[in-house]
Amino acid sequence: MIKSKDLLGIKDLSAEEIIRILDTAAVFKDVLARDIKKVPTLRGKTVVNVFFEPSTRTRTSFELAAKRLSTDVVNFSVPASSIAKGETLKDTALTIQALGADFVVIRHSSAGVPYFLSRVLKASVINAGDGSNEHPTQALLDLFTIRSSKENIEGLTVAIIGDVAHSRVAKSNIYGLTKLGAKVRLIGPPTLMPVAINNLPVDIYNSMEEGIRGADVIMTLRIQLERQNRGFFPSLEEYFKLYGLTGDRLKLAKEDAMVMHPGPINRGIEISTDAADGPQSVILEQVTNGLAVRMAVLYLLSGVKE
Ligand code: CP
Repeated sequence: MIKSKDLLGIKDLSAEEIIRILDTAAVFKDVLARDIKKVPTLRGKTVVNVFFEPSTRTRTSFELAAKRLSTDVVNFSVPASSIAKGETLKDTALTIQALGADFVVIRHSSAGVPYFLSRVLKASVINAGDGSNEHPTQALLDLFTIRSSKENIEGLTVAIIGDVAHSRVAKSNIYGLTKLGAKVRLIGPPTLMPVAINNLPVDIYNSMEEGIRGADVIMTLRIQLERQNRGFFPSLEEYFKLYGLTGDRLKLAKEDAMVMHPGPINRGIEISTDAADGPQSVILEQVTNGLAVRMAVLYLLSGVKE
């Protein structure tokens, strides 16, 4: 069982809680393979998606996950809401709760917003990405996808490439992978590594070739230009030349290495088309698994009483 009413970050979860979510997601993956994919498990509950930043995968899969569990779903439109008239986030969230929300799924450009809402609301708050801090359901679906292909996460070498400093996906994956016993390598220019890097249980590589050699899993990250307020590297062309994942570079990893990317992908910047669409790529499988994982999160949080 998950101990908290909220899912705010992987940092807050124990290895047992992560495994419990992954095991539950496996059950829902079986449900999703049936002809009738809908179950009445959370009938009568209400999920409200509140996204202050764009999203394709996370928002759509939370909506579908909620519908597959028979909840009512509202996609709150931030630009069309009373936030445009000056209403605060706290008052907006309390209003959504007063209308009967049981779950608030929040994405925000500022780190810490889901933590703030979790203290204000009785409803379960699920972090769908807060600034450069965490994106817990993305890491859970990544762990689920790795576990589907590799027998054990413990002992695997996972190379995470690129803009780690601005990536909430990287942070959540570093916490999740290391809690489950994987060895994590971070590859990228020093300017794109987190400031508190020495506090993380990871190995750092500035050379792409050295970093991906012998890896079991290669995870490329999108360059988060929207979070960069200065030039962290000379040009996108230069970045691709030094850190782009190509079919040739992929040959340095293990023969059965998985190629992952949280999406959206920028072809020709962090990954080439042959690597993104090649036989080792599980990028679309990650998206598919997001549905079962988000069903598991909604289901498990619904059982937590304060
Ligand atoms: N991986 C991810 O968060 O994608 P979206 O921004 O499309 O939700």
